[in-house]
Amino acid sequence: LLNNIQQLPPDALFGIKQRYTQDSRANKVDLGIGAYRDDKGKPWVLPSVRSAEKLIHEDPNYNHEYLGINGSPELSSAAAKIVFGEDSKALQQGRIASVQSLSGTGALHIAAKFISSFLPGRSLYISEPTWANHNAIFKSQGVQTATYPYWQASTKTLDMEGFLKTIKDAPTGSVILLHACAHNPTGLDPTQDQWSDIIDAVASKDHIVLFDSAYQGFASGDLDRDAYAIRLGVEKLARVSPIFVCQSFAKNVGMYGERAGCFHLVLPEQENIDTAKVKGAITSQLSSLIRSEVSNPPAYGAKIVAKILNSPELTKQWHQDMITMSSRITEMRHELRDRLVAQGTPGTWDHIVEQCGMFSYTGLSPEMVKRLETQHAVYLVSSGRASIAGLNHGNIEHVAKAIDEVVRH
Ligand code: LMR
Repeated sequence: LLNNIQQLPPDALFGIKQRYTQDSRANKVDLGIGAYRDDKGKPWVLPSVRSAEKLIHEDPNYNHEYLGINGSPELSSAAAKIVFGEDSKALQQGRIASVQSLSGTGALHIAAKFISSFLPGRSLYISEPTWANHNAIFKSQGVQTATYPYWQASTKTLDMEGFLKTIKDAPTGSVILLHACAHNPTGLDPTQDQWSDIIDAVASKDHIVLFDSAYQGFASGDLDRDAYAIRLGVEKLARVSPIFVCQSFAKNVGMYGERAGCFHLVLPEQENIDTAKVKGAITSQLSSLIRSEVSNPPAYGAKIVAKILNSPELTKQWHQDMITMSSRITEMRHELRDRLVAQGTPGTWDHIVEQCGMFSYTGLSPEMVKRLETQHAVYLVSSGRASIAGLNHGNIEHVAKAIDEVVRH
């Protein structure tokens, strides 16, 4: 009966982690999965998280009861303010439906279900390249996917012309998935002017934007700056189409395994829409979907994030924590670039400092990446994506020399 089930290869990203863990070489370096490490190469529990945990555990009413089906309202309403801004017109007008999700992946899954149920037949456009899971999540719900050009390998820059052309050529009302900031895997974000052109192109075809916001605060250390594209989209598309936002707190709160996140749906501002009624209907559909899949979302991470976001003191600490993480990553980018240049490693390396967020799309070929792993115990994704957060003062010399060797090989 079950004999014909096909064995699949390990997941590309988690497979790296597995190989790295099994590697017994002392100088091994993990630049695979996107998870922040401190300068000793260790996972970092943010001080704001430690303080929030302490407060939660001290609360005499602390318990492990179920959250409601839509999760913690303390989390989702504070999370909406972070994404859309305290003074967001859409928020004030009650045009945003927000529910808790199982981190960014769970939010994307909700979006995929929503599209397949209520917007059937619409294709979803994703960047080429993109986070590997995007394809899998939407395909699993039967959503047709297509790609738009993004990374121009010859110049290591954004292929704006191809990007805009694809948006304009896509069937009216398509769904366009945009990385809100710190594009994964390239680390290359549009400039503010380019964002404006992208959103205008979207508006010209009545497309629906789905923002994947997994790195707010990681790109620049500044939440408002990293929400620029989303807020511009909400403003410019207000009279055009709904917007989906999939928000993760895995990276910016360092709560990787706790799966805290939110899904937001922004309704357009149109006279023929009874906002309260439509929002109520959508929220009820989201509840039904969540109930059948996870019953209700996990509480622990949500409580911590909600505590941080709803306490001015902890929020202040959290902002500092994000600056600590993003500035250490920036320092490592500079140090790697400088070492490669000083060694005379063939090629140009400025893109490493020009990119932002957790990752650098190094431009190393799959063969070079393979050699880095087999000969030097340096692990990165075969596309050449390196998680810069895995670099530190103790391993950067080894990594720079290893890259030099594989480039010259
Ligand atoms: C990554 O891209 O490395 C992270 O988003 C981890 C994941 O879930 O794939």
